[in-house]
Amino acid sequence: MYQLVRPLLFRLDAEKAHHLALNSLRTLNNWGLDGFLNRPVADCPVDVMGMKFPNPVGLAAGLDKNGEYIDALAGMGFGFIEVGTVTPLPQPGNPRPRMFRLTEAEAIINRMGFNNLGVDNLVENVRRVRYRGILGINIGKNASTPNDRAIDDYLICLNKVYPHASYVAVNISSPNTRNLRDLQGGEQLNQLLNALHMRQLELADQHGRYVPLAIKIAPDLDTIAIREIADMLAFHRMDAVIATNTTVSRNGVLHLPGAAETGGLSGAPLVGKSTEVITELATALASRLPIIGVGGILRGDQGWEKLQAGASLLQLYSGLIYKGQSLVGDTADACRYYFDQNPTRRVFQRVVSQAAEPEAEEAAPRMESMDIPDFNAGQTGDVEVAASDAGAPATTGETPAADAGAPQPAATPSDAPPAAPASQPSGNHSRLV
Ligand SMILES: Cc1cc2nc3c(=O)[nH]c(=O)nc-3n(C[C@H](O)[C@H](O)[C@H](O)COP(=O)(O)O)c2cc1C
Repeated sequence: MYQLVRPLLFRLDAEKAHHLALNSLRTLNNWGLDGFLNRPVADCPVDVMGMKFPNPVGLAAGLDKNGEYIDALAGMGFGFIEVGTVTPLPQPGNPRPRMFRLTEAEAIINRMGFNNLGVDNLVENVRRVRYRGILGINIGKNASTPNDRAIDDYLICLNKVYPHASYVAVNISSPNTRNLRDLQGGEQLNQLLNALHMRQLELADQHGRYVPLAIKIAPDLDTIAIREIADMLAFHRMDAVIATNTTVSRNGVLHLPGAAETGGLSGAPLVGKSTEVITELATALASRLPIIGVGGILRGDQGWEKLQAGASLLQLYSGLIYKGQSLVGDTADACRYYFDQNPTRRVFQRVVSQAAEPEAEEAAPRMESMDIPDFNAGQTGDVEVAASDAGAPATTGETPAADAGAPQPAATPSDAPPAAPASQPSGNHSRLV
């Protein structure tokens, strides 16, 4: 069906087509007619971040920035939905046009610039949805906020979205907000992660529910930067990393009309680069936290490759523009095939190093230990389980408040931001948390 509609949509300006498609989907959903369009998606349950996902294929951030289309998007069969990026105050984003199709390359360039109606509006929209599945809310900073006050913006958003989110994604990797990506390293990252984790623990206490934090990174990072980020994320007890955002590279598309547009490139040309980042992250992280793989998935087998590279969950964006809803089912089918071959990977088994989260030289075995949050005691339990035990405690994301008693990851020093972790490998002293 989408293949029939696509030529019409592609005649319109990309942003207009985006809104037309989403509004039409919402209308059909309201009339209960979207079932005719959407192909059923196979079950493929996975446990990641202490939650049970019905399938590992999610919607990436940016498609529904204000959380206006959640119920309609849910009808497409995603295992989870991420909305945002949302900022503390509403902002218009960059002048139009700011979204461009590179059709021949099955790619998109965008410089939207976090156009959104502000965090309060998003929260109101989320309050009204019927969807009870796993909902990620992606937060950012306003363009007018300088980087040295960026933490304030992220904390404002975290406070407001926390009670409504299954997990919160922290976007520090958009190329369309000046200097945002500088937050991905060094002391800026150290201070941001420290502040986020401290607030996360306070909020968990306040709301009686631990909401995982996932940090979204760019594909334009070298191996050293990826290792530094991996160590820093583990050190500050982040719960997941999302790899990747769009790229500023134009490799493979330079000859195409539109390639010179400023912004982030997504879609088919990004797939290899983003999978390479996942591979490097998986090595550097050594199962200390799970990876959500995104970037250039236009076929099921490309999702399979990201799982093989080390991702535990996947997200789609540009592929939906080119392939429509059938891509969700195709990718879920490929995931099912992957997990049938690799059943232990259905549950992400977190390994935590006893040393101050040293960099690992190679990926540790994924099945030696498992993060078992003890929801009753409000602490994580040091429990060893068999690799084949897929029945790890998991929340469904459906009733967030049901798992009251927040599982508390081990605390990091609280008063001052801790020094960045040493980047020298010091062995693999794994223990359970
Ligand atoms: C038009 C557009 C807007 C986007 N907006 C956001 C955003 O607000 N926040 C974010 O974290 N990522 C945003 N992204 C990045 C996507 O979530 C995704 O990481 C990236 O496009 C790579 O995946 P893909 O190749 O499947 O599109 C946007 C992407 C596109 C194409």
